[in-house]
Amino acid sequence: MAHFKEIKESRLREIFGFPGKKLSPGREEACPGKSFLLCLTSANEAEMMVDPAARIVSRESWGSYFLFIVESPLIARRAAAGQFVMIKVADVPSPLLRRPFSIHNRNGKEIELFFKITGEGTAILSRKKAGETLDIIGPLGKGFDLALAAEKGQATAKAALAVGGGRGIAPLFFLARELAAAGRPVKVLYGGRTASDLPLRDRFKTAGLDPACSTDDGSLGFKGLVTDLLEKELKASPAAAIYACGPEPMLRTIAGLAAAARIPAQLSLESHMGCGFGACWGCVKKIRRDGEESWVKVCEDGPVFRAEEVVWP
Ligand code: FES
Repeated sequence: MAHFKEIKESRLREIFGFPGKKLSPGREEACPGKSFLLCLTSANEAEMMVDPAARIVSRESWGSYFLFIVESPLIARRAAAGQFVMIKVADVPSPLLRRPFSIHNRNGKEIELFFKITGEGTAILSRKKAGETLDIIGPLGKGFDLALAAEKGQATAKAALAVGGGRGIAPLFFLARELAAAGRPVKVLYGGRTASDLPLRDRFKTAGLDPACSTDDGSLGFKGLVTDLLEKELKASPAAAIYACGPEPMLRTIAGLAAAARIPAQLSLESHMGCGFGACWGCVKKIRRDGEESWVKVCEDGPVFRAEEVVWP
């Protein structure tokens, strides 16, 4: 905890890359004398923290995939499966904004981040070494609802299916561990284009979550898309719930499969994010609730949504 600092308003531009969200007078009164960030925290009923010096404990890589273990006690303590953090990947103006990363796992005072190099920001992050520090805001967003995997609030023998495509597997390790710890049967379906896209399979296995794997080219496990594997799985045995994260076409197919099988499903959506906490409107998606369509912010209302709420483009 020694390295955690409250962030004062004067540092807003430095932290967020822009001046930030204005507080209403009421909110200011609600938390007199506290930092801007803690005011936001209180108003959003989320416990978002800034850790400007989270130490990288270890770094592992498989080609363009990376697993960082990062010491950040305050963020780790508050993290829930499906939430994410925003990381300032560089001190230079470009890339200016923070980048979002799913929380892959938490372990005591550490959080784990699994990511793939997909652009400049992730490439810069991938070059960080153990012992270096990261400036992190989190935990952010609304995560998975574990109760979805229970029937009428009761435990069920049916398994919850956690379906991850490529780097979309990132938040599902945390989720699967939480479900297992809550006594819910869980089965992980892990898909990628080829075997090298499934670097976490041994990690899941070691955690007692031996995944069913699929590859498009048949180099490992079932040959075909992970959604084909899911369809096969649903035909073989009914599931309690489906949780999924991955590319949009995959999530759209899963939403259709879940609706056809009348199985509750939650999807973790990807979006470009500028701030990560509702200030920039850079992450909006259309959803439908009670028959009404509206735009919501993925960072605040999500990134996890019920499958039937998502309005696909
Ligand atoms: Fe800024 Fe969602 S990322 S509002």
